[in-house]
Amino acid sequence: MTAGSDGFAAVAGGPALHIPVLGRPALHFLNVNDGGIYIDATFGAGGYTRAILGQANARVIGIDRDPNAIAFGAELVQAAQGRLTLIEDRFSNLDTVAREAGFDAVDGVVLDLGVSSMQLDRAERGFSFRLDGPLDMRMSGEGPSAADVINAAGERDLANIIFILGEERHSRGVARAIVKARAQAPIRTTAKLADIVASVVRSRPGDIHPATRTFQGLRIFVNDELGELAGALTAAERILKSGGRLVAVSFHSLEDRIVKTFLAGRSETRAGSRHAPELKRLAPTFRLLTKRPVVADADEVARNPRARSAKLRAAERSAAPARMEDVSDLLPRLPALADVLKGH
Ligand SMILES: C[S@@+](CC[C@H](N)C(=O)[O-])C[C@H]1O[C@@H](n2cnc3c(N)ncnc32)[C@H](O)[C@@H]1O
Repeated sequence: MTAGSDGFAAVAGGPALHIPVLGRPALHFLNVNDGGIYIDATFGAGGYTRAILGQANARVIGIDRDPNAIAFGAELVQAAQGRLTLIEDRFSNLDTVAREAGFDAVDGVVLDLGVSSMQLDRAERGFSFRLDGPLDMRMSGEGPSAADVINAAGERDLANIIFILGEERHSRGVARAIVKARAQAPIRTTAKLADIVASVVRSRPGDIHPATRTFQGLRIFVNDELGELAGALTAAERILKSGGRLVAVSFHSLEDRIVKTFLAGRSETRAGSRHAPELKRLAPTFRLLTKRPVVADADEVARNPRARSAKLRAAERSAAPARMEDVSDLLPRLPALADVLKGH
């Protein structure tokens, strides 16, 4: 593949702002063709969308829950001359979004999970422990913020969120320190929370910032990122054509486990069992294209440290009808946001 032929270098609407992590393998597995319809379910700064539009005479439905990303994409919509439809919504609704845009089936769905640099680098969005700003973290700008959770949740719920979603082993100490600090004054800024965490989690030179895991857990919880991911996978199963491709790039083990478990289950024949004889044999809805996850090579990691934890999995949709099973067993057991906000 040469730099120009894969769509990342010379594309509709000018050059790509940045090449997304694992962008080239993602485009390869998406199998972009003339006349195809693709959902870029995490539009962000539009890196994948530009590449898809640049690679073939295809159409893209771009989705992002962040109104800033949608506003930022307006220029690209213009440049794409009718080939790009951009919609502000959650990707768990991606099948409904596509149908409402007039497409009953699509050739590919790509998910590039997590936060964008546009979100992370803006202090006022409150995602970063490196920049002081309001403790917000809402991708959509709506609903309860990280500050609402931090100031209302019971100590046990806080510890569970930080342990399960942040994978922080000092979660109990962090939760205790948060509860003690907020008894003096509400915790309203990223710098304040980062200081509280750093008073409990020690780090050596060269380690990640001590607040990394706590911020990750809180962000995932506030945005229900894992519930959204499980919803997106089943929505993709419903809207992909036979032969259509699903490509997911994840950045931590909780996300990757959900993608891996979902695809493993959907690529097997599900038989009824002695305990549940009413279950019919269900044909696989996907064929795995990646037995092991694709990871970034040393060059990409050197250029972009975020690539170190990235894992790409891809699968091809079969002709079998979508399964209607509940996928909540893919998710960690945590109380709902509304219950956590009832508090202490
Ligand atoms: C890593 S960025 C994507 C970057 C993009 N591939 C690019 O090339 O610029 C992830 C994006 O997904 C969006 N996002 C995350 N969760 C979402 C959800 N549940 N529904 C819709 N968009 C979501 C975020 O707002 C963010 O803009």
